[in-house]
Amino acid sequence: MSHRSIIILLFLLFLLMGFEWLPTDYPAPKGWPIPTYSFQTNPYDTAQVRLGKYLFYDPVLSKDSTISCASCHSSYNAFAHTDHPTSHGIDDRKGKRNAPALFNLAWNKSFMWDGAIHHLDFQAIAPITGKTEMDNNLENIVLKIKRQKRYVLAFQEIFPNQEITANLILRCLSQFQLSLISAQSKYDLVQDGVEFFSIQEWNGQRLYTAHCGNCHTAPLFTNQELMYYKIPSNAQIDSGRYSITKVAADTFLFKVPSLRNLSFTYPYFHDGHQPQLRAAIREHGSMISDQYQLTEDEISALISFLKTLDDPTFVFDPQHQFPKAFFRNK
Ligand code: HEC
Ligand code: HEC
Repeated sequence: MSHRSIIILLFLLFLLMGFEWLPTDYPAPKGWPIPTYSFQTNPYDTAQVRLGKYLFYDPVLSKDSTISCASCHSSYNAFAHTDHPTSHGIDDRKGKRNAPALFNLAWNKSFMWDGAIHHLDFQAIAPITGKTEMDNNLENIVLKIKRQKRYVLAFQEIFPNQEITANLILRCLSQFQLSLISAQSKYDLVQDGVEFFSIQEWNGQRLYTAHCGNCHTAPLFTNQELMYYKIPSNAQIDSGRYSITKVAADTFLFKVPSLRNLSFTYPYFHDGHQPQLRAAIREHGSMISDQYQLTEDEISALISFLKTLDDPTFVFDPQHQFPKAFFRNK
């Protein structure tokens, strides 16, 4: 084969792969990286998103039908939880970590504060079976859901002639969560050239690029890595990634959270020990460098910039809220 035909062949192969990788129906914001979620096995589908939303808001997933995913992940808090530092599940049993916000999950490389889970489709098994969360099991959920006419009809419509299985339930939960895209903040509008930063916001962005952008990298505002976090004395002891790997070097490694929507997602850090953003950044300062302390003026500028990452259009989007009409049916 000539060189030229090899190049043409490679080019064709690349095009084919490109088409496979890029989920054409997924509304990824322009200029963002390619999502990591494997849409090939679960193509994005708005009907499944809707069904996933019913499941996400339904306490039927928990053992005694009292706790839904939304009990800990509230739409008005960018799907985090602000009432308690650490989450409360079934029978008010306390978990040891803060419920993280849920958005832009199609780009996540791993899930949980310690990165324990690598695929969104399997993530839901953890809260469903967790003793301090829903304390249930997948077989029981399938049984409970099959008993409800509204679900039998909804599944029939989307998956005709298929039996309701745990796999379909998990897929639909992923679909709903994949629909949670936060990309309409002031920051995004500034990138699009339709809004402008104030001087203070611009100063904040400069400091941000110098001190924060390495870990909390735009446009997702996380580099998706697990980084060392010096546990302050007021935090709950949690060995982070070490609890999964038992490798000493993984002690106190935590997943870098996105800094979008911070005004809605307090309290901060893996154990939610810090209710205030200013204090959170002050505390975080020593992590950036032992020699360099941010001044209060610098923190103020940083906060002005961080507030441009709030996305009320996403947080108050009725599309993501409790689906009343579905639960009115029997
Ligand atoms: C009792 C409260 C509670 C319930 C109920 C709950 N979660 Fe969570 N969720 C959490 C906590 C706490 C974490 C962090 C756990 C950790 O890091 O170990 C979490 C983590 C997650 C993550 C990982 C996010 C990330 O960026 O790493 C996803 C996704 C998620 N939950 C989805 C769900 C879904 C779907 C359901 C329902 C099936 C659900 N959660 C039910 C408290 C809860
Ligand atoms: C070396 C990487 C790194 C750098 C640099 C860094 N952070 Fe972080 N940041 C993290 C990690 C890891 C966490 C999670 C720690 C935890 O909860 O245990 C975090 C958490 C946070 C949180 C809490 C968010 C939440 O949802 O709980 C805020 C706010 C924050 N960082 C702001 C900043 C700011 C502002 C800067 C720059 C001044 C900065 N960070 C620089 C790694 C970094």
